[in-house]
Formats: sequence, C-alpha cells, structure tokens
Amino acid sequence: MGRVTVPGEGEGLEGGPAPLPADDLRAAVAAMMRAHWRDGGHTVPSGSVYPWQWLWDSCFHALIWAELGDGDRAVAELTNALAVQDELGFVPHMTYHGDPSARADFWGRPGTSSITQPPVYGHAVAELVRRGVTVPDEVVERAVDGLRFLFDHRARTADGLVTVVHPWETGCDDSPRWDGWCPGGYERARFRVVKGDLLDSVVRAEGGAPLANPAFAVASAGFNALVAWNAVELAGLTDHDGLRSSADELAEALDRRWDADLSTWTDDGPHASGRVRTADALLGTLVVPRAEAFAALADPSGLGGPYGAAGTDRRETAYDPDAYWRGPVWPQLTYLLHRAAVTAGDPVAGALAAGLRTGAAASGLAEYWHPDTAAPGGAVPQSWTGLALLV
Ligand code: GLC
Repeated sequence: MGRVTVPGEGEGLEGGPAPLPADDLRAAVAAMMRAHWRDGGHTVPSGSVYPWQWLWDSCFHALIWAELGDGDRAVAELTNALAVQDELGFVPHMTYHGDPSARADFWGRPGTSSITQPPVYGHAVAELVRRGVTVPDEVVERAVDGLRFLFDHRARTADGLVTVVHPWETGCDDSPRWDGWCPGGYERARFRVVKGDLLDSVVRAEGGAPLANPAFAVASAGFNALVAWNAVELAGLTDHDGLRSSADELAEALDRRWDADLSTWTDDGPHASGRVRTADALLGTLVVPRAEAFAALADPSGLGGPYGAAGTDRRETAYDPDAYWRGPVWPQLTYLLHRAAVTAGDPVAGALAAGLRTGAAASGLAEYWHPDTAAPGGAVPQSWTGLALLV
C-alpha cells in the first residue's frame, strides 16, 4: 500500500510530516489544503515552490474544497481567481496577493501576470452548482466573460482553432510539443530563457489583454479541448452569449486535427513538434469521445500505466519519466481524462481513477510522479493532487 504524508496545520510545503496509510488520503488532503490556505481566500499550490495564486490550480482547488464540504472556500477561491479579470474578459494566470511588486518588471504590470491559463472555471462553476454550492451570479458572469474573451478576442488559426500566446498558457509548460522553439533540442534551463523571450512578442489590446503572438501562434489541441469543454459545462447552466454553439464549432475544428496513425489530436500551427503524443493532447475526449483516444490512454506501452496517464507517450524520443512535463503523470490531467472517460462510459475510467488515487498516495501528494514507480517529482505536497478524492 502506498503512503501519504501530511503537513501540519499552518505549515508550508516542507515539514517532515509523518507517513500515513493510503486509506487516509482524505485526511491528508484536508490537512494539506488547510496548510496551503491563505487569508483573503485562496490556496497556494505549494508553500515554497508555488507561493502565489494560479488560475487553473485555483479552479481545481475549488473542486477539492467542495469535495471536502467547504463550499465557502470553494467559492472564495474561484471569486478571487476571477476578480482580476479585465474589461475584455481576460483573466491573468497568476495573482501576487500581498506583494503586487513581485515579478512586476517581468510581466510589465503589478499584481498579476499578463497571460492566461486553461479556463477550467467553466467546469468548476458547473460542478459546484451540481454539488449544491451556491455560486454568485457575478462569478458565473465572469466565467462566461472569460470564455467569451478566448472565443471572440483571441487570435484563431485559419481553421478556427484558438491560439495561445505562450507555452505557459497551456499549463503544460515544458511539453515536448514546444520543442520546435528550443533551438538545438530541449534543455530545461535554455527553454526557460526562450519562454521569457516569448513574452516580448505578445500582441496586446489597449488595456493589456494578450491577443496573439506571431512568435508562438500555436493552437494547442489540449487548450482548445479545454476551452470547448468548459464552455459546454457553463452552457449547461447559462447559455447566454451563444456559448454552446461556439463550443460545438471549436470541437468540430479540433476533431479535424485527429491523426489516426498517431492516435492523437495534433496542434494547429507551423511546427512539427505539435504532433508529439502527450496526455493533454487527448483532452479532446472531453468533447469528442473517440474510442481510439481512450485506447491510447489504456495502452501500457504508450500513455497507460499503473499510476495514471503518463504525460508523454513512452514511444516518443522526448519521453523522460523523471523530467518536468516530459513523461511523469500529472494528476490534474489524469482527473480531466477520467472525467472524459466517465462521461463517455469508457472502461479506462476505472484504471485512471485507481491510478490517480494510488499515485497521489504513494507520491506523498506530489505535483507529478513517475509513471511506473510513482516516485514524487516537483513540489511535495501540491494542492491539485487532492483531485484524487474526486475520482
Ligand atoms: C507549473 C505548472 C502549471 C501550474 C503551476 C502551479 O508551472 O506547469 O501548470 O499552474 O506550476 O502549480
């Protein structure tokens, strides 16, 4: 049986906690979430590695708080994440609560970053409502506006797919899909420099909202899947502004990117690296339930495995089971893929759920873990890994 570790109340990321049996996953998640909660109403992903508020993390945290029975914190977290939205609907992906000068030079503005992240707030709002949590109208409105910003203001490809302006917007920072932007081959430190430079070419609206980036005009399959699905989720509550039809059109455009030989959706854009088989690229299953995609997730020589979906297909040359975004299991992706499989009634749902729970426990609620051993990677513990309670 795997083991989990629990930080003490008020403790940050590290702290030498005592191991617990995996059966106590719920208690461990609750203790971690309380330790990572910050006054003013948000949860940090980790006390030391990620001490700020991140957009898609907060959407996942809201789900975890709801699962833990704390609807107030769930709503507060979502409200806070969306409070920094601008007049066009753009939602920054990071908020520097309490220290607006942090990284202000880097982003060119105080208080927040100047790019976004996957709009998981659509799902978070819908799921909270399904669970009986009252979500204020203003939060629902902001979620709609956030999606409408992506549909209406963000640059599209000729085929209608929504582009991101930066690798960070996908949430999958160092995915092998971006290797075409790292001259001489991927290397983590060098790619960090590339990512910094890519901010310079972002085209912005007058108020600063990021609209396009000629140097990174990528329509990520995973990002588009999440835009479409989150719009579908919100449209189930409130279909104003034509969310549903926008989502359906986007899902159709995405499915034109299905590559039957590789069993993946490919990115739209100029670089061949957008064809690497990754777990996030199969998020299209949230809106187009292809059996072949679920089969790829079940294949132990590809993306399948005992601890959830490997981040990169084991047959790819870029596959590295120990490296950040190059092969480890990411719990938030496994949670989303599990949702897709449950909705489609595909049997891989069972393996994804078991893998997520076992991997979360065995890794000590790590940010990500080795797909074959569950050895922890990144921040330990990391808040979003509490999603293991929801499967
Ligand atoms: C890393 C991840 C990103 C996440 C952030 C905070 O940068 O790549 O997706 O939002 O950490 O957890």
